[in-house]
Amino acid sequence: MSERTLVLVKPDGVARGLIGDVIARIERKGLKLAALELRTLDRETAETHYAEHKDKPFFGDLVDFITSGPLVAAVVEGPNAIKAFRQLAGATNPVEAATGSIRADHALEVQNNIVHGSDGPESAEREIKIFFPDRF
Ligand code: CMP
Repeated sequence: MSERTLVLVKPDGVARGLIGDVIARIERKGLKLAALELRTLDRETAETHYAEHKDKPFFGDLVDFITSGPLVAAVVEGPNAIKAFRQLAGATNPVEAATGSIRADHALEVQNNIVHGSDGPESAEREIKIFFPDRF
């Protein structure tokens, strides 16, 4: 069954020139881009997107980081898109991510982990509405 997920290439990934690498992996897997945009988040949007982490000790640093420069937001669709992208990304902590995944190949630390992918169908729907309110 086809589904949609929200993918972000975070400011560290954009700054390091990894937009093309991430998109190439998405396309090579067979997933489709349904929306794609380069933008810099304001704090309010960042806090809404990461609301589930608002009581975590790293929340302030996370909002600082995700608003620190342009990011790429994409809606990615296809069969099992949510799990398929999370497999491409690898575990949140890059040093625990599977060999060959985006985070294993490009990152060292849990905050600067290059990409975000929705973790389930409800969060995908919620996050897509935050980034592309008029389109889905
Ligand atoms: P992401 O998949 O975007 O979802 C929440 C983000 O919080 C996560 O990727 C990391 O970038 C960040 N994060 C998770 N755990 C920690 C942590 N212990 N310290 C700092 N940042 C974290």
